Amino acid sequence: VERQDMKDIRLLVTAGATREAVDPVRFFTNRSSGKMGYAIAEAAAKRGAKVTLVSGKTDLTPPAGVEFVEVTSAEDMYQAVISRYDDMDIVVKAAAVADYRPKVVHSQKMKKKSGDLVLELTRTRDILADLGKRKTHQFLVGFAAETENVEENARGKLERKNADMIVANNVTQSGAGFGVDTNIVTIYTRDGKSEALPQMRKTEIADCLLDKVLEARGGQKRQ
Ligand code: PMT
Repeated sequence: VERQDMKDIRLLVTAGATREAVDPVRFFTNRSSGKMGYAIAEAAAKRGAKVTLVSGKTDLTPPAGVEFVEVTSAEDMYQAVISRYDDMDIVVKAAAVADYRPKVVHSQKMKKKSGDLVLELTRTRDILADLGKRKTHQFLVGFAAETENVEENARGKLERKNADMIVANNVTQSGAGFGVDTNIVTIYTRDGKSEALPQMRKTEIADCLLDKVLEARGGQKRQ
């Protein structure tokens, strides 16, 4: 029997990649499998939390006992998360959200023509930054997928997006980041501290991360 140390805590976690349509048959996406976010959803549910999993399309089966909301685009994810935000105690943004989407979504399949094609992209909304702006009582956890300057970029995201915690992974390290069953993360908190975890399975990282969240949240005298 698992420790029930998250009983009645409402946690929303996002997972997987978004898809940004070009036309009816094409889209832009990224390498996120959803494994990290699904592991967090499952671990929190086992510890008694009321879990909502907002997920892009993945090959994974949603864990038992969680509310499952499947989305396609960054804008869909934005709507699904923002509309549930007021009711949440903890939000964890493990999804890899597109930063750009095609400016024009063609309603018919684009025909090939001779020569190069230039597609114009426009920015999507930053869900984490918006959650940071609207934060009232929630504890907000972001991820940072970095390929260089991990600490500097992670601390920048913590500040700019008004998050309470950033979980950074260097996605160029083998055994870390996109697609694999393990990850190597460093957890940054607002007290200026950081904790580097060794390579572990994403399921184990999930429990360590939730331990840290409960500890930091307790420190902020919430609840
Ligand atoms: O799914 P897996 O295959 O298991 O891989 C896990 C992972 C590598 C995807 C995961 O560990 C991870 O790092 N997720 C965040 C990926 C990402 O988009 O990082 P970022 O540094 O680009 O974004 C920073 C934060 O802002 C993230 O919490 C992201 O969810 C959020 N964001 C980004 C853009 C946007 N438009 N809205 C957002 O909310």
